Amino acid sequence: MDLHNIRESYNFDSLDQLKANRNPMIQFNSWFTQYKSLGIKDYNAMAISTVKNNEPESRIVLLKEIRNNGLVFYSNYESNKGQSLAKNPNISVLFFWREQERQVRIKGVVRKIDTQDSEAYFEKRPYLSQIGAAASNQSRPIESRSALEIKFQKFQTKFPEGTQVPMPEEWGGYLIEPFEFEFWQGREGRLHDRLIYTSNSDDWNIHRIQP
Ligand SMILES: Cc1cc2nc3c(=O)[nH]c(=O)nc-3n(C[C@H](O)[C@H](O)[C@H](O)COP(=O)(O)O)c2cc1C
Repeated sequence: MDLHNIRESYNFDSLDQLKANRNPMIQFNSWFTQYKSLGIKDYNAMAISTVKNNEPESRIVLLKEIRNNGLVFYSNYESNKGQSLAKNPNISVLFFWREQERQVRIKGVVRKIDTQDSEAYFEKRPYLSQIGAAASNQSRPIESRSALEIKFQKFQTKFPEGTQVPMPEEWGGYLIEPFEFEFWQGREGRLHDRLIYTSNSDDWNIHRIQP
């Protein structure tokens, strides 16, 4: 398949240092809120990349909370990503907001959030999501689809709807604490705006890079 002739032009917005907030978390919040308002399915999806044994690996997860000091997502601590992050807590995060011709890249370090916070969120999840989290050893092999369904049903019998499904020990949230951001705004003629924020103890340095 030849995709060479696909061309897009970008003219939704611009970004410069006078316009951007000095605090990248506030800038992120502002762009995220604008994207959220479009009501696009999975608007809170983000690609996270981890490295295990020198091999990078990416996958989509859902952003579930924006804190002053970072971004929270939930997963299984024993999954592939969990094992990678236990050895190497560095993470790269990517958002692509096509409708607004924006991309945000974040480099950060993860740590697990408090168990009470994970539990508070787990309790709010729909019943089947709770059962799914409890029944799945994420990223581990299973012999068949039916074996998976049987496992799922066993958990449903053990914890019927209306009873409390205990949060699995290996499940919970990660807080990504960023040390670098890139805000990318598509512009006419490929002269895109790119602002880099690098953490400098308790402040942020901002500079522009070429597209
Ligand atoms: C739209 C979407 C949302 C997802 N949200 C999550 C999530 O919040 N947490 C999670 O662990 N996996 C989520 N997944 C599944 C992951 O992409 C991935 O398959 C899973 O976490 C296992 O990854 P790993 O084997 O690299 O650990 C989502 C996938 C998609 C497509």
